[in-house]
Amino acid sequence: MAVSRSERRSGELPRVLVVDDEADIRELVDLTLVRMGLSADCAGSVGEAKGFLERERYSLCLTDMRLPDGEGLEIVRLIGERYPETPVAVITAFGSADNAVAALKAGAFDYLAKPVALDQLRTLIKSAISLPPAQKSGEVSAAPGQGLSAQLIGVSPAIESVRDMIAKLARSQAPVYISGESGSGKEMAARLIHGQSARHAAPFVPVNCGAIPENLMESEFFGYRKGAFTGADGDRDGFFQAAHGGTLFLDEVADLPLAMQVKLLRAIQEKKVRKVGYATEEPVDVRILSATHRKLADCVDAGTFRQDLYYRLNVIELKMPALRERQEDIPLLVEAVLQRICGGCPPVLSAEAMQALSRYAYPGNVRELENILERATALCSNDIVTPDDLQLAAGTGVDGVGSVEGRAGETLDDLVNRVEKQAILDALAKTGFNRTAAARLLGVTFRSLRYRIERLGIEDGAE
Ligand SMILES: Nc1ncnc2c1ncn2[C@@H]1O[C@H](COP(=O)(O)OP(=O)(O)OP(=O)(O)O)[C@@H](O)[C@H]1O
Ligand SMILES: [Mg+2]
Repeated sequence: MAVSRSERRSGELPRVLVVDDEADIRELVDLTLVRMGLSADCAGSVGEAKGFLERERYSLCLTDMRLPDGEGLEIVRLIGERYPETPVAVITAFGSADNAVAALKAGAFDYLAKPVALDQLRTLIKSAISLPPAQKSGEVSAAPGQGLSAQLIGVSPAIESVRDMIAKLARSQAPVYISGESGSGKEMAARLIHGQSARHAAPFVPVNCGAIPENLMESEFFGYRKGAFTGADGDRDGFFQAAHGGTLFLDEVADLPLAMQVKLLRAIQEKKVRKVGYATEEPVDVRILSATHRKLADCVDAGTFRQDLYYRLNVIELKMPALRERQEDIPLLVEAVLQRICGGCPPVLSAEAMQALSRYAYPGNVRELENILERATALCSNDIVTPDDLQLAAGTGVDGVGSVEGRAGETLDDLVNRVEKQAILDALAKTGFNRTAAARLLGVTFRSLRYRIERLGIEDGAE
């Protein structure tokens, strides 16, 4: 009877395909695999590798980048298209970081730099072999240890494609940069990627990069040695050691000072860190996810974020959609949030209240919706939520500003200025007086907002 590629024959050792034209590397990898209780097939060229792939089903493929008859990338792409259940990793020449990034973008789940370090090789093999089977698109699984509350709620095409991306990204070790407006679910996505990955049993360590004092950054990230500075009364691990085997989530990564960006880049490239006060580096196995509500590319243009680090973190971008771009999800979210706040018997929304919620633009996205509902359930009487209980800011409907009435004796210019000033003040208030975020909310450039703030004489509490 023919055995389908997707079934594992019982009792069979997981098989690994090794593709390299250098015999000594093939032998080294083969030996390591055998010692780990795995079996291997070795190919010396793209052509040979294709032959093996047609005949056999593999739990992992490890390929060199430069081969006599083609590129390792070709194998990465072929596996991605035809055998997506097989994770593939590449071996890159020393110092060719660009190659590694290209391979990750093409779908490789990880890479190893030559000379191949045995401990890194073993870690890579272990995590590939323990990957859960690829999920079919659209299939949702809760992360281990997380209940339904940790699921992305929504059925819109935008959230469905986020769900698919998360399932794919969970099978990779590539750094992912999660972009999206404030409150759109960036941290939630990061937790889901970790929870569905082979690293799920190891820690997920979220770090708010904007909240660490600059002078403590290095020791917080990399740890320190006893006596390294006043107050260092014992050896301490940093975030990297804490996340060993797991995921480090660099939240608000745009807030990292430039000096720390250099050190972080080094740690990510070398996969090694040095504790403050120690002369030697120690290897760390950490997957990096990052996020910020700012536009990281703009920070690179402005010179506040290093381009080389940007390329390293942003190998793959996951964009979280704004809630106003997926309005069809609002009723489902409302229901889920009310259930969470009130338990068994949540208050009912009047038809007008539901309509008002569907029309609102949510500059603060899902988090704002949660806040609105929490306030409304506290304010409502007889367990019925009315539009008044929602206290939605006026003039922020998705379909525009609504009607504006002039005051007696007010000229058109005065009226326009008044409305403009109010819109800017609202945007500043909603973004905690962050001018960059306020500009984005208003759909103008930062420079234009600054100009308007000056022209209208607005005091916004910033510089
Ligand atoms: N699709 C979703 N389904 C259910 N809940 C969601 C969804 N997206 C976001 N949330 C909820 O919204 C809140 C904000 O999410 P999260 O903290 O992940 O956003 P964020 O993008 O990291 O925000 P910020 O930019 O402010 O850091 C959380 O309580 C989260 O559970
Ligand atoms: Mg966040």
